[in-house]
Amino acid sequence: MPALSALPSLAIAGVLLVGGYQVVHGTLTLGEFFAVNAYLLLLVFPLRSMGMWVGQYQRAMASGERVFEVLDEDRDVVERPGARPLPDGPGALTFHDVSFGYEAGREVLSDIELEIAAGQTVALIGPTGCGKTTLTALIPRFYDVERGSITLDGLDVRDATLDSLRSAIGIVGQDTFLFSTTVAENIAYGSPEATPEQIAMAAVRAQAHDFIMDLPDGYDTRVGERGLSLSGGQRQRIAIARALLMDPRVLILDDATASVDANTEARIKLALREVMRGRTTLIIAHRLSTISLADHVVVLDHGRIVARGEHAGLLEESPVYQEIYRHGLVERTFVQLDPDGAPIEKEDVA
Ligand SMILES: Nc1ncnc2c1ncn2[C@@H]1O[C@H](COP(=O)(O)OP(=O)(O)OP(=O)(O)O)[C@@H](O)[C@H]1O
Ligand SMILES: [Mg+2]
Repeated sequence: MPALSALPSLAIAGVLLVGGYQVVHGTLTLGEFFAVNAYLLLLVFPLRSMGMWVGQYQRAMASGERVFEVLDEDRDVVERPGARPLPDGPGALTFHDVSFGYEAGREVLSDIELEIAAGQTVALIGPTGCGKTTLTALIPRFYDVERGSITLDGLDVRDATLDSLRSAIGIVGQDTFLFSTTVAENIAYGSPEATPEQIAMAAVRAQAHDFIMDLPDGYDTRVGERGLSLSGGQRQRIAIARALLMDPRVLILDDATASVDANTEARIKLALREVMRGRTTLIIAHRLSTISLADHVVVLDHGRIVARGEHAGLLEESPVYQEIYRHGLVERTFVQLDPDGAPIEKEDVA
């Protein structure tokens, strides 16, 4: 493009120089000189736009190549030929003898037996890298189990159509992705037909309404890559609002915000309680306040379930749970140990 815009200017300079010389010495009439100059000026614009088109063509080819690279990627998970829609049900979830690894020969999960009754909440805890997120990723079939099976309301997830399976599962992940569009559209991501009233209602229940109203344009504020960035706790509440609007029968919560102030923590807890109501929930918890929302706690270590039960019982019986409890995975601000090393729970801030 620079070359194609410089070319006409150089040509004009040449014409002025040579033509001017000839006119001065009488070998060219002023009229002929003027005509040549006018033709040249007519050429400037088409040449410039040609330069632009060449540049755009190259950019489009490079971008297209990258887009098609993604589109042509083979799916790891495909629908089985006889797949059928997930039948209606209350959301009973069963892991039967499940093993899984990302690479051959290195199991991340081994022999997982887990049953979550419809409407029950199970907290999943364990040291970092033990396979918590991986376990939850198997339910919506982001990956397929290597051995064993996972059933939702009696149907093996591999026998369900991906659409019906994934619309039955809501995920509030470790890191919520915000699209570069308005807050309202981000909340309605899983349910595009939602009305502004329904969106606001979900935000109120997710404890997100207040901070959204404080944004420059309220629900119309652009966020994400090309807009305002939101904090981790705010993103999480947007994700909770998303899940509320989608109304899935199974909910997966990967509670990553381990360090938020007490006020935010209380609000998140309220929002979680709201979204969990009446739904089968698997919550990956790091804080005692979130663990306390669960009916049942499962402790994972190196991809195996090493203990399960209720908080009080686990604290007495499971060394791994005690270890996690004492060494910071469970947030300390809400736990103090008395002189004998037993925990004193502060009053629930929520
Ligand atoms: N996409 C992936 N490809 C290959 N290995 C992976 C992938 N995701 C996770 N892993 C590995 O699997 C193991 C379990 O990871 P996972 O993310 O399930 O841990 P986690 O328990 O959720 O940890 P955290 O508490 O830090 O979130 C880790 O050793 C990790 O390195
Ligand atoms: Mg994780």
